[in-house]
Amino acid sequence: MRDLVRKYKDFLAVKGVTFDVPEGEIFGFLGPNGAGKSTTIQILATLLKPTEGTAVVNGFDIRNEPDKVRQSIGLVFQDPSLDERLTARENLYFHAMLYNVETTIMKKRMAEVLEMVELADRQKDQVKTFSGGMRRRLEIARGLVHYPKVLFLDEPTVGLDPQTRKRIWEYIHYLRDKEGLTIFLTTHYMDEAENCQRIAVIDHGEIVALDTPENLKSVIGGDVIKISTDNNEEVLPVIKNRLQVKAEKQGDYIAIQVEKGEIFIPRLAVELKGRINSMVIKKPSLDDVFLHLTGREIREEGVNAVDRMRVYSKRKH
Ligand SMILES: Nc1ncnc2c1ncn2[C@@H]1O[C@H](COP(=O)(O)OP(=O)(O)O)[C@@H](O)[C@H]1O
Ligand SMILES: [Mg+2]
Repeated sequence: MRDLVRKYKDFLAVKGVTFDVPEGEIFGFLGPNGAGKSTTIQILATLLKPTEGTAVVNGFDIRNEPDKVRQSIGLVFQDPSLDERLTARENLYFHAMLYNVETTIMKKRMAEVLEMVELADRQKDQVKTFSGGMRRRLEIARGLVHYPKVLFLDEPTVGLDPQTRKRIWEYIHYLRDKEGLTIFLTTHYMDEAENCQRIAVIDHGEIVALDTPENLKSVIGGDVIKISTDNNEEVLPVIKNRLQVKAEKQGDYIAIQVEKGEIFIPRLAVELKGRINSMVIKKPSLDDVFLHLTGREIREEGVNAVDRMRVYSKRKH
């Protein structure tokens, strides 16, 4: 990607994004709702034209060779896109026909991908009888029918139960290892992003960090202590001013970044004399990285969250 820009009327959704993803990598595109992840994926998949800049996918330019790009990629959309009244098998068959997969190869491949996502025994059932997890698995299988080189997954695990999420991550690793696929996925789940080899953090259409999860976390260093108190609003400035440490409100908690948690906690207990209700000490997570980079936490979901982000972005710019 080189200087990718996308405007919706006057609104800049993607503000000049440049980075490379090497072949065979599991790459995570991480950011809150509205950050510009789906817009970027749609540009890479040739479904949207960039306002400026360009990108090359599997060696093909998205502007000049969109057909070749489309042949090279599998795409799992953020929103469900299966035909509910077709069976699982028919959904795959339809897709394979559109991609001109040769009939003998098609049969073998369909059996293979259905097996992989554990839907072989349900292949003759209509999709409308499937659970959310089964549908998602079928969409992944469909994205693989034509042997793509690059698989794009837009929020592949949103709204799924933990077991299904875990299974989907197993497929992702399997596909990279066994089929040599390059995988580009978006997520706003920090814990999931840890499964990626490298992560680009996007916020308000800009890349704010790009590295391995380990390196991103090492930027923070030290420990994170989370406390809840009888009045977080009152206590937060006390921590910042009297103890001279970096502290932020995170939901119902105050998150404090310190070098050595075990040394800081006794000081904290003395300073806040009996005001602490609960306390957790942990090594930095990607949540903390995001907070560190943007001054906000990422877990702001739903409509209100989007509104909150807008208010925030107005304040910021
Ligand atoms: N078709 C569109 N028209 C106008 N604004 C859009 C459109 N699609 C997305 N946006 C806006 O662009 C921003 C980025 O959206 P999107 O790429 O969907 O973010 P993400 O996938 O990271 O949640 C958001 O503020 C969103 O409201
Ligand atoms: Mg999206």
